[in-house]
Amino acid sequence: MCGITGYIGTEPAGRIVHQGLKNLEYRGYDSAGIALAGETVSVYKTEGEVDELPVPAQNDVACGIGHTRWSTHGEPTETNAHPHTDCSGDVAVVHNGIIENYEELKAALRDQHIFKSDTDTEVIPHLIENHLADDVSLLTAVQRTTAQLEGSFAIAVTAAGHDGVVVAREDSPLLVGHGENATFIGSDATAFIEHTDQVTYLESGDIARLTREDIEIYNAGEPVTREIETLEWDAEAAGKSGYEHYMLKEIHEQPRALRQAISGRIDELATSVDLDIDLPAEYLRSIEEIQIVACGTSYHAGLYAKELLEAHAGVRVTVHIASEYEFGGDRDPWRTMVVAITQSGETADTLSALRNAKRAGARTLAVTNTLGSTVTRDADDTVFIRAGPEIGVAATKTFVSQVATATLLTVHLGQVRQSITSQTTTELLESLRDLPGAVQQILDREATIKDAAETYADSESFFYIGRQAGYPVALESALKLKEISYDHAEGFAAGELKHGPLALVTPETPVIALLTNASAAEKTLNNVNEVESRGAPVIGVTSDPAATSHVDTTFDIPECGPLEPVVANVALQLFAYYVADAKDRAIDKPRNLAKSVTVE
Ligand code: G6P
Repeated sequence: MCGITGYIGTEPAGRIVHQGLKNLEYRGYDSAGIALAGETVSVYKTEGEVDELPVPAQNDVACGIGHTRWSTHGEPTETNAHPHTDCSGDVAVVHNGIIENYEELKAALRDQHIFKSDTDTEVIPHLIENHLADDVSLLTAVQRTTAQLEGSFAIAVTAAGHDGVVVAREDSPLLVGHGENATFIGSDATAFIEHTDQVTYLESGDIARLTREDIEIYNAGEPVTREIETLEWDAEAAGKSGYEHYMLKEIHEQPRALRQAISGRIDELATSVDLDIDLPAEYLRSIEEIQIVACGTSYHAGLYAKELLEAHAGVRVTVHIASEYEFGGDRDPWRTMVVAITQSGETADTLSALRNAKRAGARTLAVTNTLGSTVTRDADDTVFIRAGPEIGVAATKTFVSQVATATLLTVHLGQVRQSITSQTTTELLESLRDLPGAVQQILDREATIKDAAETYADSESFFYIGRQAGYPVALESALKLKEISYDHAEGFAAGELKHGPLALVTPETPVIALLTNASAAEKTLNNVNEVESRGAPVIGVTSDPAATSHVDTTFDIPECGPLEPVVANVALQLFAYYVADAKDRAIDKPRNLAKSVTVE
C-alpha cells in the first residue's frame, strides 16, 4: 500500500528520500514521487518503479518528502502520483489513506482552484493554499485543513519558504525518526531504518511540525508529548542478506522466528506457558465464544487457531473474514472475546472489525508482529508474535509465528479453563519446541522441493487438499502459490472435492495433499484415490513412509507431533516460491498486491 517517507537535515534530501522510497517498495505500489522544498518546491514523479524516478541530484535542498502510491482514486498515472501541489506549486502534499468527503471539498474549491489529478488527495494542498493566504504558519494551515477532512489519513506537507515539514495523522500510521541533526518521516520504520532506531509513533489526531532538530506535536490544538522509543529491528534484519528475494530470506528465517515466538514463554518441563498478558483468569473462564477477525494469511492462521482452541481450550471459536464482520446476533459481549490477528497491525478491514467489536462492548485482543502499530493501541490487550520484520508481500514467517502464538494461547486458556490435560499440554508444547528443528530439516531439503516445483511449473492449475489443521494449511499454501506465481490455485477441505471441484481435476491439474499428523491423513488418502483415477498427478506432504506409495511425488517432512501441518506449510512455501521463480515472477512485489492494506 502507499508509503510515505521524508527527511529534514543537513544533507541533500533527494538521495535520502529516494532511498526511503526504495525501502518502502515492499509495501506494493504503482507510481512514486518526491518533493524537495527550499525557497521553491520541486516535484519529481514517475508512473512506474522508484528506479525510474531520477534521484534529484542537482537539487541540494535538505528537506524533502516522498511517496509510493497504490492507486485507489484515479488510475496509476504520473499525474495521479503524489506529491500533489496547490495552484502555485508552492505547497506539496503526500497522503496515505482516503479522504471520504473529497468530492464535496473539491466542488467547493473548483471555482478558484485548478485541479490536475483524479485523486482525493489533491484537495489537501488547495485547502492549505487557502489557509496560507490568511498569512498563518504552515502548521496552522495544516491544522485548519485537517479539521475539514473526513476519513483516514497520514500526510506530510512541505511549502516553499516554510522551514521543515508538517505531518498529520488520523488513523493511518505515521512515525518520526530522530537522527543526529536530522529528522525522518515514515509510514513505517523501514523508510528510514538505516539511519536511526529512535522513533516517535504519532497518535491519531496528532499534527506535528518537524525541523531537523525539533518536533512539536499538537493534538486537538494542544501541545502534547509522545515518547521516543527504540526500535527492536535493525537495518540488517530488514535487508536481503544475500538472498535473491525477501520471501526466500524470510522462509529461511522461520526456525529463528519460531524460537523467538516461544522464547521465555514455555517452562522447562513443558507444563505451562507465560504469555505476559493481563487477561484475568476469571474473565477467561467466563468466555463462551472467541471470534477471530483477520484477512488473507492471518485469516488462515485464525482457522488454524480455531482447530487448536476448540480442541483444547474448551471454547467455541468462529473465524471471520474481517471485511465481512459485524458483532451481532444474540452474542453476549461480556462473554465474547474478539481476537484480531494481523501481522502489520494496520490492515484497515481488521481494525474496523476490531472497533466494531469494541463498540459492542466486547473485550479485544490483538495478535500482531508490529510494535507500536495501530492495532496495539486499539485493542485492550496485545500478544506479539515476534517474527521480526517481514518485507515480502507474501507472508511466510509471520504465518508460522501466528500459529505458534495461537498454540501458546490455547495452552494458556486450556489451563485457566481446566479443559486441557497435562498430557496434551506437554504434547503441544513439545511439538512447539520441536518445530524450529523440523522446519530447518525442510529447509535443508530445499533442492528436492525446487526440482519438483520446476517439474510442475507449467501446470494449468493447482489444487490443495487437507483436513482438520491440514485444511487451513491447504488454503494458505494455495494462496501463496497464486499470489506469487499468478497461477490458478485453490485450497479445499479434502472431503469437499467430490461435491464440485472434482469436475475441474484433469491430468494437467496437480493436486497437493496434506497427509500429516493432525490432518486425518487416512481419510484424505481416499480423496487422493479419487483424483488419481481422474489422471491428476499428486504431491503428498507427509511424514509417513506408508503414504508415499499412494502419491506421485512426496515431500518428506519430519515428524513433529500435533503441529506437523506447520512443517508441511514451510515445504509448500518453498514449492510456491520455486514455481514462481521458474516463471521469473516479481516475487517480492506481486502485481496488484500490497503488503499492508490500509484501505477498506
Ligand atoms: C495483505 C497482504 C497479505 C496479508 C493480508 C493481511 O493482503 O498481502 O499477505 O496476509 O494483507 O495482513 P495483516 O498485516 O493484517 O496480517
